[in-house]
Amino acid sequence: MLSDTLRQALVNIPYLIAAFLFILGLKYLAHPRTAVKGNSLSALAMLIAIVFTLFDQNILPVHMIAIGLGIGGTIGAVLAIRVAMTEMPELVALFNGFGGLSSVLVASAAYVGASTGEINLQLSIATIASALIGAVTFWGSLIAYLKLRGKVVPSGAVTSPVLKILNGLFALSILGLSVVFVTNPGMEMYFWAVIGIACFMGITLVIPIGGADMPVVIALLNSYSGLAACAAGFVLNNNLLIIAGSLVGASGLILTQIMCKAMNRSLANVLFGGLGAQESGPTMDADEVYAGKVTSASADEAAMIFDSVQRVVIVPGYGMAVAQAQHVVKQFTALLQDRGTEVLYAIHPVAGRMPGHMNVLLAEADVPYEQLIEMDDINPTFPQTDVALVIGANDVINPVAKTDPASPIAGMPILDVDQAKTVMVIKRSLSPGFAGIPNPLFAADNTMMLFGDGKKIVVDLVEAMKEL
Ligand code: TAP
Repeated sequence: MLSDTLRQALVNIPYLIAAFLFILGLKYLAHPRTAVKGNSLSALAMLIAIVFTLFDQNILPVHMIAIGLGIGGTIGAVLAIRVAMTEMPELVALFNGFGGLSSVLVASAAYVGASTGEINLQLSIATIASALIGAVTFWGSLIAYLKLRGKVVPSGAVTSPVLKILNGLFALSILGLSVVFVTNPGMEMYFWAVIGIACFMGITLVIPIGGADMPVVIALLNSYSGLAACAAGFVLNNNLLIIAGSLVGASGLILTQIMCKAMNRSLANVLFGGLGAQESGPTMDADEVYAGKVTSASADEAAMIFDSVQRVVIVPGYGMAVAQAQHVVKQFTALLQDRGTEVLYAIHPVAGRMPGHMNVLLAEADVPYEQLIEMDDINPTFPQTDVALVIGANDVINPVAKTDPASPIAGMPILDVDQAKTVMVIKRSLSPGFAGIPNPLFAADNTMMLFGDGKKIVVDLVEAMKEL
């Protein structure tokens, strides 16, 4: 028989390996070239963690672990295969929500299962923290999911002073009741009351946030789910859960910060500012911006320009993801490169609807990573660019961000495509992007609009180029 100390030491070895793999996985996730490897390593770490925990604690027999892995793996695989790239934020919101819910369940089970004498200060603080953060995460994530789907809950921002007052009252009650609970852990009523109020607060915290800010909120809820898991690690005295939870909590917070910076917004402004709910509406009228000033062209006319250019920068945006144009765009790029044209892709940090959206999209089409250039590096080169070809991007190239302090995207760093000799914009109409405002770039003297679906227009361009 192994002594308890030796057994504990042996269990900690797989935990140590899993923790190392989590950290390595995160590091690899930081670059598109290694991201897939990073994801696989992290998944392997989670597998090791779950299987060893279930074995070590004698929680389940081997066949039950295998059945659980089979069912969970199948559901995960089906979801991952079926989800459209543009619906990824919804899926992530659901994952975060389930993470939060499991922390509530773990904390509640640990609390209910413990006798009053067993509940020391660490357990009472960890239990209440895990349960309340988990409850806020679960309900907040469900509301975020419904908002993104545009079902049941309105997808725009809902600014109401009542919600602000409610949130203040909820926060104060949670704080007060949590302190009472921690000092009297035997009083079960306080525990359930905190969970109940936290559920409502999850709803009232996310309801006011508007559509364009949802990805930021989802990153924040991701961070919350990590913090809840970390607290659950203290409840169970499980080192690996503490490590994994802290990694998720910290990385979610860093991602939130990066997104806020890329949109030139503070987190407080995202959470309480209500983008998209401005009562005054857009600061510019679309007719005023576009009337009589927009030049449109056909794919054949555009192809003639491409025939004699040295440098092209392609600017992908959300519309390219919707049109699923990435493969044909790669084909078009190859045609230009065969003619000796230099082609690069300009990547804006919040183009699309999720962090890294454009990188993932272009990686799907095997576009070499060296051709993807970040905003700060590509911007100074636009004046030397013959054609900036914008495919389904709008807000991230809107010069109003620099010129109109009253605009909802004021101060957001943009791709300076207007500096290129010629700008070609592929989109279906003059409809606005996510921020809901007109874009004067479409009416600029050096801009040609190629109206139509992103994929169809690029297919036409490819054909026209081949005929030249
Ligand atoms: P948007 O400004 O949303 O514009 C996308 C454009 O794509 C639309 O104007 C639309 O015009 C066009 N489009 C849609 N379907 C198309 C199709 N099938 N073919 C061709 N064009 C199509 O996109 P963006 O420039 O990528 O900016 C992203 C926005 O999301 C920003 O406001 C950003 O702040 C916000 N946001 C992003 C993130 C992340 S992490 N990515 C996070 C928070 C907020 P038509 O309807 O006329 O075709």
